[in-house]
Amino acid sequence: MRLAVNIDHIATLRNARNEFDPDPAEAAILAEKSGAAGIVCHLREDRRHIRDLDLARLRMAVTTRLDLEMAMTAEMQGIALKTKPELVTLVPEKREELTTEGGFDIARHYNALAEYIKPFRDASIEVSIFIEPDERAIELAKNAGADIVELHTGIYSLRETDEERELELDKIRHAARFARSLGLAVVAGHGLNYRNAAAFASLSDIEEVSIGHAIIARAAFIGLGAAVQEMIALLGGKA
Ligand code: PXP
Repeated sequence: MRLAVNIDHIATLRNARNEFDPDPAEAAILAEKSGAAGIVCHLREDRRHIRDLDLARLRMAVTTRLDLEMAMTAEMQGIALKTKPELVTLVPEKREELTTEGGFDIARHYNALAEYIKPFRDASIEVSIFIEPDERAIELAKNAGADIVELHTGIYSLRETDEERELELDKIRHAARFARSLGLAVVAGHGLNYRNAAAFASLSDIEEVSIGHAIIARAAFIGLGAAVQEMIALLGGKA
């Protein structure tokens, strides 16, 4: 199980003072040195955390895989094609949300999706779509030309009892198996933390988890390098 680290909230902290520290690019380098297999950032329409200059600097700094999470807009498509991350992840985006609130509504956007994805394929940028662990959504992602699906784990992360968590994990496990059977790569994320991520270590159809808030929060107490290493150990890996 690989760990991709989302560094958006390093920028949130930096923006609290609107100066230079802490620097998201420096965080990315440190996370990679500590074993992260990829770095994720979400350039939002309102630029509330990562800004355009951060993205350019992250592109220069990241030597593993840079994953740009983005809304399906013409503006973001232009920025992504110019920046050339290894992959883009299409996410839903609402101005008023605190964080991404659920999977991308792929049925609603399906008609425009293949055409939207094509320039990325032409530029050798992989395309991931953040969706609910649902077979129909996975089929649509495959048909539209996605390379990867990121299964939304937000509902799993909100479940309170072991039984409820197990039921949700089962859905994710089945969805991952189905996606793999269609030839898609599978990652998972949202809301994973030091209490609930270990269950993913044994999900063999999922290659990677994408974790942000919990790692940055832990980093405030023990440092980013140690927080990344701790999560990698939980996921059954060695940093
Ligand atoms: N995956 C996606 C698609 C996301 O939008 C986010 C949040 O930016 C994450 C993973 C990471 O979520 P969290 O910050 O809760 O770990």
